Amino acid sequence: MSSGIRFESVSVAYGKNVVLDSLDLTVEPGEVMALLGPSGSGKTTALRAVAGFVKPASGRVFIGERDVTALPPYRRGIGMVVQQYALFPHLRVEDNVAFGLKAQKVDKAEIPARVAEALEMTGMASYAKRYPRELSGGQQQRVAIARALAIRPNVLLLDEPLSALDAQLRSGMLAELARLHRELPDVSILYVTHDQVEALTLADRIAVMDKARLQDCGTPQELYRRPRTEFTASFVGNANLLPVQVGAAGVRFDGVELSVDTQGAAEGASATLCVRPHLVGLGEGPNALRGTISEVQWRGSTHRLYVEVGEGRHRVKADVRELRETPVLGEDVVLHFAAEDAVLLGAGVSGG
Ligand SMILES: Nc1ncnc2c1ncn2[C@@H]1O[C@H](COP(=O)(O)OP(=O)(O)O)[C@@H](O)[C@H]1O
Ligand SMILES: [Mg+2]
Repeated sequence: MSSGIRFESVSVAYGKNVVLDSLDLTVEPGEVMALLGPSGSGKTTALRAVAGFVKPASGRVFIGERDVTALPPYRRGIGMVVQQYALFPHLRVEDNVAFGLKAQKVDKAEIPARVAEALEMTGMASYAKRYPRELSGGQQQRVAIARALAIRPNVLLLDEPLSALDAQLRSGMLAELARLHRELPDVSILYVTHDQVEALTLADRIAVMDKARLQDCGTPQELYRRPRTEFTASFVGNANLLPVQVGAAGVRFDGVELSVDTQGAAEGASATLCVRPHLVGLGEGPNALRGTISEVQWRGSTHRLYVEVGEGRHRVKADVRELRETPVLGEDVVLHFAAEDAVLLGAGVSGG
């Protein structure tokens, strides 16, 4: 059986401080939804509302067709993994994993097999007799995941599960989580993170949160290629955000006419043009921007150029393939981008 998660206008407040503001969001059965946003944006609060650890001031939470808003956490059938492992230090790995099963009153005779199954899935079968202190951070987190999976949840809640791990472990665990999800295609996953790479890598869809509100929601590709807000554009990937004026057949940026799709925006309106740095080319081309190099960062396979363009001295970022000759500060250069690589934001733009 699989079941999704549905937030229906869920608000949470601490005193007068609204930390989750009318969240409407549906996680389809078997879907991985990332909740992505900066620290303090309300992600953990949303997750805890699903788990039953915070009570919404208003709105309802559904798991499958069941309204669970008033149910205590242990009756929601949820597996949860948080940032800091939260294993019981005095219990061996196998007893940590068995913990949820005992709490759920699973038949005693069935518990060893269920524990073994969960440890197998997370590659921790040979560590069953160890104590948490005898494990590395990554291993502890695998045990925490095994513990969450042991109850065979329909819904798995993960709150920054990789943020305590170092970068290399993190990328290995990301691949592991993707594999686990392939093995458990019916489990719906709500994955809280402030890391866009994790969200882009793992999620079927990303819900972008900022300041207690849902700002945007879509597939990683949609959000990256067609962000609807400046916040999404700059939080999901890197972005040049150029202030422009909408014209008849394009936009005007600091005195330069650029031919881009105005997506039905009203002529004369102020808007923001979003162009990804890796889609900005060096040299003459369509939509040329002339300027002066103000900073160069060598990043191995690419050079990041910061170019001050126009009279307003806007800084435009361009990620170009590593150049044979390192560009010189103060050098005059031309940047360009293709019309289809620009997205117009704001100004009552109809597309998106
Ligand atoms: N128990 C609490 N009491 C008071 N304020 C809280 C509590 N938990 C969270 N907050 C506040 O709610 C806001 C959202 O927190 P949280 O959901 O943890 O954000 P995120 O997970 O996105 O970093 C923050 O401003 C935080 O300080
Ligand atoms: Mg959090």
